[in-house]
Amino acid sequence: MKIRNLLLSCSLILLVFQLRADEDTPLERQMQIMARSIKQLSQQVGDSSKQQESILLIETLKKAAYESEGLSPRKTASIPQSDREKFLADYKSQIEKLSSAFNEIEEAVKAENYDQAKSLLAAIGPIKKEGHSKFKQD
Ligand code: HEM
Repeated sequence: MKIRNLLLSCSLILLVFQLRADEDTPLERQMQIMARSIKQLSQQVGDSSKQQESILLIETLKKAAYESEGLSPRKTASIPQSDREKFLADYKSQIEKLSSAFNEIEEAVKAENYDQAKSLLAAIGPIKKEGHSKFKQD
């Protein structure tokens, strides 16, 4: 009976750890917001009839980038203590690059320069790629 109880407790503890490991981090939640908004924006950024809606999407992107800047990637825990400060500073500066790109897209959309907005949007891909290769856990 004691062994059965012990086994049951162990399985429960394992289950709790599993559930915690599967939980989204606050940063993942901000990234998901960005992924959804970018997808929608890329479908309509050239459409002048959706200018206001596009501006709202860009505001959402800017807010998610701002929130992300205050968070730390999961990978931080695996970086040696002595390198952590630099890792986080580099992460922030990559997020700032993203925020500047969002600001430029917003200016272009507000000025009705939709072609320019489209090409600025295309420049987000490499910023994201670099951010993920350096700061996302494998
Ligand atoms: C618009 C550009 C971007 C999009 C659409 C995007 C999208 C995503 C998505 C969909 C995920 C996975 C979320 C999940 O697992 O549910 C993710 C994770 C992640 N992204 Fe981005 N991303 C972008 C830019 C960036 C940039 C510039 C950086 C770094 C400065 C970055 C750092 C990360 C990190 C570190 C994770 C893992 C989350 C964690 O460690 O908690 N992302 N991103």
